[in-house]
Amino acid sequence: MLRVLREHLQQNLAAILPAAATADVLPETPVTTCRGLADAAATWQIQHTANAWAAPADAPYPIEAERCVSVAAMQQARAQLETWPEYSVTPLYEHAELADMLGVSSVSVKDESVRVPAVGSFKALGGALAVEDVARLDPAGAASVTVTTASAGNHGLAVAWGATRAGASSRVYIASHVSEAMADRIRGNGAEVVRVEGSYEDSIAACIEESEQNGWEVIQDVAWEGYEAVPQRINAGYAVLAAEICEQSEGDLTHIFVNTGVGGFASAVFGLVWDHYASLGKPRPKFITVEPTQAACAMHCLRNGAVSPAPKPSGPGTVQTGLDCLELTPLAWPVFLPGVTDCVTVPDDAVGPTVEMLAAGSDGIGPIIAGESGVASVATLLAAAAQPELKAALQLTAESRVAVVICEGSVSAV
Ligand SMILES: Cc1ncc(COP(=O)(O)O)c(C=O)c1O
Repeated sequence: MLRVLREHLQQNLAAILPAAATADVLPETPVTTCRGLADAAATWQIQHTANAWAAPADAPYPIEAERCVSVAAMQQARAQLETWPEYSVTPLYEHAELADMLGVSSVSVKDESVRVPAVGSFKALGGALAVEDVARLDPAGAASVTVTTASAGNHGLAVAWGATRAGASSRVYIASHVSEAMADRIRGNGAEVVRVEGSYEDSIAACIEESEQNGWEVIQDVAWEGYEAVPQRINAGYAVLAAEICEQSEGDLTHIFVNTGVGGFASAVFGLVWDHYASLGKPRPKFITVEPTQAACAMHCLRNGAVSPAPKPSGPGTVQTGLDCLELTPLAWPVFLPGVTDCVTVPDDAVGPTVEMLAAGSDGIGPIIAGESGVASVATLLAAAAQPELKAALQLTAESRVAVVICEGSVSAV
């Protein structure tokens, strides 16, 4: 398994990095323990910004944020998901080695690589749920429904899988940078795949235009003016994962790190946890968005205090393709502006070693076969363990109780 994973990483990295850089990222002899990565992690260029607009930790959950997600919306989604034979709670592991190296009380690792094997990520909780709603509501029956979406991969897998299980058809629009391996997996879940030359944003535009022309139902995880109900429902599904974390973690969390693309997932997790902690009269944990260096739309918006597209970076794209988004979904904003405390960005050279470390397993944790878009938060903790200024900036102390989500399984390993 490790060999397959290594070959896959080598191929993906080779597509974006010069040969010499690829060799640096994946040394001949893989270093597979947290401590073995300390020297490398000390060199990872993690950028950090504190959110100047963050509300105090004991602020109530804002009424406007309920538009994004709430405990009540999560409970409705959960009631529906619990009727699915495919739904089960994913594990939350205690990573003692990482906690020890970082010098914190605990590091809890939520493993989404095992969420619905055909999907292999938290996306199964959102896209497939929204597809089921649409398929059930159509008076002509699910078989007459075609759902569409644009995706960097995982959301497309979830929509395709959801359409097949609901008895509907699906079309998934993917941008140039999405791998053929991912396209094959989406087809394997029953969808027709439409490749769009251009960026993720271009694939959304093509999806909307063709769907309007043909009367297809768009199941998008991003909101825009007049299109909120579907992404709200998707957020409610994602929030079920956050509710699982709240129930599985012993004691109160102080920090939650979430990988961020358009921000739907992070806003659903942060919003649910904030609403839940506030209802118990407890301060909310620190909420940290984690993005690739080349696609940092949350950091861009929070630095400016307003939603606008992040500037297009020059140079190669990121291997963290699921997070390769330059435009934040506006639905995330009522949670992000007052709720996020810190934003970090993670360079691609942190990805391969972190994937390998997780695949090697650790005391009491079996191998986690994660994909490249799933590990940026773990990489941030490894870097904070090796970089005292980053650890201090994130206010990680011996009392901290940290949670991270490993968002996806490996494309090649499934
Ligand atoms: C593995 C993985 N993690 C995180 C995200 C981020 O989710 P969002 O785009 O809602 O921020 C994605 C999005 O596709 C993803 O595929």
